[in-house]
Amino acid sequence: MSKEMKNILVIGACGQIGSELTVELRNRYGAGNVVAADIKEPKNKELAKSGPFEYVDVTQRASIDTIIKKYGIDTIYNMAAILSAKGEQNPQLCWDVNIGGVINVLQAAVDYDMARVIIPSSIAAFGPDTPRQNTPNDTILRPTTMYGVTKVCGERLCDYYVQHFGVDVRGLRYPGIISSKTLPGGGTTDYAVEIFYKAIEEGKYTCFLRKDTRLPMMYMPDCIRATIMLAEADFDKLHHHNDFNLAAFSFTPAELVQSIKKYIPDFKCNYAPDYRQQIADSWPTSIDDSVAREEWGWSPQWTLDEMTKDMLEKLSARHKAGKLYNP
Ligand code: SER
Repeated sequence: MSKEMKNILVIGACGQIGSELTVELRNRYGAGNVVAADIKEPKNKELAKSGPFEYVDVTQRASIDTIIKKYGIDTIYNMAAILSAKGEQNPQLCWDVNIGGVINVLQAAVDYDMARVIIPSSIAAFGPDTPRQNTPNDTILRPTTMYGVTKVCGERLCDYYVQHFGVDVRGLRYPGIISSKTLPGGGTTDYAVEIFYKAIEEGKYTCFLRKDTRLPMMYMPDCIRATIMLAEADFDKLHHHNDFNLAAFSFTPAELVQSIKKYIPDFKCNYAPDYRQQIADSWPTSIDDSVAREEWGWSPQWTLDEMTKDMLEKLSARHKAGKLYNP
């Protein structure tokens, strides 16, 4: 039987996923019961105004413990991470945040007898030896990026804590996430967010991946729904814990450009692939998420064109109001 989640701490709450996840968790569990924590103050106004914020550096165990004690935290979502591109530029930092952070959160879960912990993984856990199309859940994990190495290691650490300490920890392998509120930072799939801002602002974009680079992607509302669905799933029905494949759709930059052109016919995109191309080429082109569907009932709701329409509507409205980058 899972324990009740009453007082939730979101570490990395100011990041791309954390900023929207925290607001949704506050809607569900009560604003005062969800503490946002990060090493930087929230810029997003909805996040800043909707509930408590605390400084937490996930690499510092004492900093996590202070907030656990202050609020009687029983559930942690650890969304703090260094993504793939930044991880290649600073592998040591990537290891310290992604693995140091994960072990701190897992050990805190043991010491404070937490009800639940959510620790995400990524499609970056896969590598060039993995079957690239319709990548199965349980397959070869030999990533070639530091980010991917930390994600595989994190998955194994989480399973170790389930087996040896009975920690209820869960996690998804997120595809590239597209969102309208907070920009991602330091990832290889970031182009698929930047392109919308540039389409609205300038009508043109230079993409850092080749036009035929197919990657698995997802719109933020599906990402948030999946995360909370897994967190609330019946533990006894889960055979996997921290390594659920998750999918919505896959596209290439050229296909995304075509989708944007349906709404902005004059939109122009150039291609100037850089070091991130090699990272993208090591990842799957599409994902088999049947295990998530079977174990906790996952199915995505958004298609590529629906997402494009929604992104352009939201960003255009903000651009007209003079606050494209300040939601
Ligand atoms: N969006 C991430 C990245 O590009 C993948 O998990 O690094």
